[in-house]
Amino acid sequence: MCGIVGYLGQRRAYDVLIQGLHRLEYRGYDSSGVAMINASGDLNIYKSKGKVEALEHFTQSKDLDGCIGIAHTRWATHGEPNDINAHPHVSQSQMLALVHNGTIENYNVLKEALTLHGYKFVSETDTEVVVQLIDYIMQTNGCSLFDAVREATRQIVGAYAIAVIDKSKPDEIIAARQSSPLVIGVGENNEYFLASDATPIIEYTNKVVYLNDGEVAIINHQTGLHIFDAHNTDESEIHITELKMSIDELEKGGYPHFMLKEIFEQPRTLADCISGRISSDAKSVVLSGVIENREKFINAQRIIIVACGTSWHAALIGKHLIEDFCRIPVVVEYASEFRYSNPVVNKGDVLIALSQSGETADTLAALELAKSQGAFVFGICNVIGSSIPRATHSGCYIHVGPEIGVASTKAFTGQVTVLAMLALLVGQMRGKVSEETLETVATDLRRVPTLIQDIFDRLNGKIEDLAKIFTYAHNFLYLGRGYNYPSALEGALKLKEISYIHAEGYPAAEMKHGTIALIDVDMPSVVIAIKDKVYEKTVSNIQQVKARGGKVVAIVTEGDEVVSALADHVLEIPAIVEPLTPLLTAIPLQLLAYYIAVNKGRNVDQPRNLAKSVTVE
Ligand code: F6R
Repeated sequence: MCGIVGYLGQRRAYDVLIQGLHRLEYRGYDSSGVAMINASGDLNIYKSKGKVEALEHFTQSKDLDGCIGIAHTRWATHGEPNDINAHPHVSQSQMLALVHNGTIENYNVLKEALTLHGYKFVSETDTEVVVQLIDYIMQTNGCSLFDAVREATRQIVGAYAIAVIDKSKPDEIIAARQSSPLVIGVGENNEYFLASDATPIIEYTNKVVYLNDGEVAIINHQTGLHIFDAHNTDESEIHITELKMSIDELEKGGYPHFMLKEIFEQPRTLADCISGRISSDAKSVVLSGVIENREKFINAQRIIIVACGTSWHAALIGKHLIEDFCRIPVVVEYASEFRYSNPVVNKGDVLIALSQSGETADTLAALELAKSQGAFVFGICNVIGSSIPRATHSGCYIHVGPEIGVASTKAFTGQVTVLAMLALLVGQMRGKVSEETLETVATDLRRVPTLIQDIFDRLNGKIEDLAKIFTYAHNFLYLGRGYNYPSALEGALKLKEISYIHAEGYPAAEMKHGTIALIDVDMPSVVIAIKDKVYEKTVSNIQQVKARGGKVVAIVTEGDEVVSALADHVLEIPAIVEPLTPLLTAIPLQLLAYYIAVNKGRNVDQPRNLAKSVTVE
């Protein structure tokens, strides 16, 4: 939620900031803004409601000079999206400008106190309180910006990543973080970049420093980078990480949308995800994070998976996989519910935090809670170096590359793939998976990239045509069972979030307990009816829909004749072992949602009200 960019060096800061805002737009696009200090010492702040494009338009004839600046793209939490609530926020003294990602929980108390000291607030945001507080501390204590930020971080409660500049010190940015991400890029000759994730930095330098919770950084053009603990005077050691991400991965590569690019990338991303983890004879699986913690997994009394949204759907598939292959009971919890539910967590529990971004606030809080109660905490994430992998005892990455489209696609299949490998490995360690089963499933897992490519080759055009038929439906039902009940939930979520059509995912057999009342000619049902152990039952469910005049789009196993005769439209996917079927059924569901959304003229990559990385509660 919200993206921060900062720059200090020799280039024109504006160019770096705007390009960085474009890269971070997936984190929020309600408004954006920049603050730069020019060579004459003027602090120029420009803000605009809407996307970064609107800001660019607004700044066309403005003074954009200066080699230091901060910028922000907003996902509104406090106060409606408008120019006034847009960041950067400026202090009453007009000396400081600040950008913030996160939420300040005690902003009302601070605001009241500052109001008594004569501060007047122009916006409705929690952020403005922070800049005024820093200003107040500087005025009353006569201290430096760094000392004031450090003092302010002791007074504010909540989540924040902030960057502040001071008009009287045009060679310095002060940054601080608590529970919201902040990465500092280190260039040549004391050139520095600052951002909520590494994507705005990677085109300038691959050397980054991840700021930790409770740290405050001084980024100075003369004296370089220094990081301190906010609560004492200790200077932290600086750990530079070299990133391997390439700039091509951040571009659309000829596709009209990131989402389509990311859907089509899946044969490669899943090959990358599996690479080096399944032996060439498919007889063994290697996940070092699991192997190094062998005893924890072997002796696990229970596995709890916490996640949100699409990752929660992948977690539900993970439950089937782990229970089937490891015979360990698994509970899947919405992270937001888990963290406030007084959960019973025991020492023998393993908690898996599943998250594409590795920054989801609820998932992070849920894992911290489980950790504090003695659970072994394992992360499965995509973004390297993000907060969740750094907070867990161990984990593994899904390695599917940057996911920019707000709707998760390749991360979902990457998560399911890692969960499948983890289930096979732990199952083998516990003696619950035979050599033969491991080889059969691992062999099929290795075939998944080719099978997905086959689905693209045969079905892409067909799904594009099918989407035209259903573009104007107002409601959709997605039905599935067993391994593919979560797939139905995920299919419905994909459609909802990018097309704004109401859709419900449902276990097919549950439909007759109420939902069937909704079915009529205007309510299409997408039914996952592949040849699994409940195939015949799903066929009956389709008959129940058809008997009420409902239209059925069925996803079936290649060669199926029974469902093909019943359903209105059929999408055939190749046969594969049942536990891996969600990896294939996901593909037509993603494409269907995508083409319907495009037909409706929706902003597929940045759907309304959403953001990619949910770092607020
Ligand atoms: C939907 C989507 C979201 C995320 C959710 C969790 O397409 O992307 O539902 O899955 O916000 O995000 P992560 O996986 O980053 O924790």
